[in-house]
Amino acid sequence: MNFLELFKKSNLIAAHRGDRSQKPENTLSALASSIGKCDFIEIDVQLTKDLVPVIIHDDTLSRTSDVSKIKRFAERTPWRVSDFTFEELQSLDFGSWFNLEYEPVLTLEKALSFAKEKNLFLNVEIKDMSNTYKDQIAVKVIIDMIKKTQTEHLVLISSFYHHYLSLCKKLSSKIPTAALQIYKHPNNLIDYLHTLQVNAYHPEDKITNQKTVAALREAGFFVNVFTVNKTERKKKLFEWGVNGIFTDNLV
Ligand code: G3P
Ligand code: MG
Repeated sequence: MNFLELFKKSNLIAAHRGDRSQKPENTLSALASSIGKCDFIEIDVQLTKDLVPVIIHDDTLSRTSDVSKIKRFAERTPWRVSDFTFEELQSLDFGSWFNLEYEPVLTLEKALSFAKEKNLFLNVEIKDMSNTYKDQIAVKVIIDMIKKTQTEHLVLISSFYHHYLSLCKKLSSKIPTAALQIYKHPNNLIDYLHTLQVNAYHPEDKITNQKTVAALREAGFFVNVFTVNKTERKKKLFEWGVNGIFTDNLV
């Protein structure tokens, strides 16, 4: 089964940054803890200074690592991920801030290999790195890794920075893509999504309504809404025909 076939199922549950209510977000233990509790797992990817794709949500390292406690990095504020080499990130602990257990930085390579080994579907969200790296380079590094690990069938790529999605399609026609959106839908939404050649639309919950969901589904786009933590709201969205929801609370 590939990711698009997964959308034949209804009421899909996506683990937002892994099982982040139980384990430190975007770590291997958060992925492992999601197994059996969801239909797919969402992770955030960005590049280190030396172009290694790593699974970290924020632009900076302070919230989800011990970087602020490490003396040799004291002068490196605001501790941007893109200012650190992969080797430097390997010296940090990405778990103790959450549950006092050490957790190494998770690489895209490791996440994809794990997904392959356990047969898990992954939504790889590419963070907007357009201020730091050329778009072509950022996307190529990530697509190359998906190809290298032979996980094209397990992955759905998404991004708020929609230019990446068009580039993804050029580099691999096999990997499905999704446009993420906050605040307001783009003008002429359906035409716009056709132009991007995406398979799915991922709006934030706040801007999601029944009419838009119906129009998107009618036009053949899959719709996955983030972040939905309330049971009643989840129910309502599924009644409207939403394919999936991203949640922090897996049960
Ligand atoms: O992909 C859904 C969601 O993860 C998008 O927002 O900021 O949590 O990455 P964010
Ligand atoms: Mg995300």
